[in-house]
Amino acid sequence: MNLSSVSKGERTKGRGSTPFCKRPLSPRSTTVLKIVKKYCNSQLSIGYHSDNKTDANIIRATLTASICSKLDSSTTMTTPSPLIHLDSISKVFLTDEIETHALENISLDINEGEFLSISGPSGCGKSTLLSILGLLDSPSAGSYNLAGREVATLNNSERSRIRNLDVGFIFQSFNLIGDLTVYENVELPLVYRGLKTSERKERVLEALEKVQMSHRKDHYPHQLSGGQQQRVAVARALGGSPRILLADEPTGNLDSKNGSKVMEMLQELNEGGATICMVTHDERYSDIASRIVHLFDGNIIDESIGSRNGAPTLAAL
Ligand SMILES: Nc1ncnc2c1ncn2[C@@H]1O[C@H](COP(=O)(O)OP(=O)(O)OP(=O)(O)O)[C@@H](O)[C@H]1O
Ligand SMILES: [Mg+2]
Repeated sequence: MNLSSVSKGERTKGRGSTPFCKRPLSPRSTTVLKIVKKYCNSQLSIGYHSDNKTDANIIRATLTASICSKLDSSTTMTTPSPLIHLDSISKVFLTDEIETHALENISLDINEGEFLSISGPSGCGKSTLLSILGLLDSPSAGSYNLAGREVATLNNSERSRIRNLDVGFIFQSFNLIGDLTVYENVELPLVYRGLKTSERKERVLEALEKVQMSHRKDHYPHQLSGGQQQRVAVARALGGSPRILLADEPTGNLDSKNGSKVMEMLQELNEGGATICMVTHDERYSDIASRIVHLFDGNIIDESIGSRNGAPTLAAL
């Protein structure tokens, strides 16, 4: 240990029985302190350090401070703050005639790796909430903290970067680009990410294969049925392996066989660590989530637990 790095002030503070640690010690820190004392005493007794008593105290104090600060930071890391923290979010849409309060005072935490389902009647604000979560829209009031950053402080390029790199969308209305083929639609977000052509091709074909749309890769959206367009929208979102997937009624236009397949893909993505927020009216699917948030008239009125926390799995349904 480099004693010369310990300042005079620290040396003074180091004398005495409660060195450096300004906060009251937790039981774990107290145990560490005991170990440190024992360690220092044994080191002193075998003559490893100076036998000067002041130095011994400094060594003890410095070691303790270093371990306590490591403990403090490790405590922070083992209790991570939520990936998404919404605090009193409201959204008001103003049109010529009407003022619509789409969201009112929404406070919600979503942890990394959660599979959250959002349900509620038509018009209750589900899509509005997803748009805010995905930085496509801004709240009228309240604060949104994403991965430790206050979203309101992000500039446009930072917002786009997060959308491109971290967020995948499956929109309720698919949002496929009419002038692009199925292949090009799925490829587009990967182009924005700057992936090489060869990697893009691999990812696009794999994603289309998963949703069984490879045979339609050169078709345009208007040549596809609603269900097929939805599967392409799913492929586009999955191809980017997003950290956060926002899925608005991802099975809304699918028969039960294709719906179950899409749900399996979402589960797979979630098992790979992605955080999923999915809007669905279908109780069979919402129950697959780890948590179900129930919205009504722009308010969260209830939360319940899905199968990821012990309820039946898709296979059991
Ligand atoms: N751009 C907008 N301008 C004005 N009003 C809007 C806008 N977008 C949504 N709204 C209104 O906000 C409310 C919530 O809409 P939202 O689309 O979030 O509902 P939803 O829960 O997704 O409904 P659904 O289940 O039918 O998709 C509705 O009353 C809607 O008319
Ligand atoms: Mg909607």
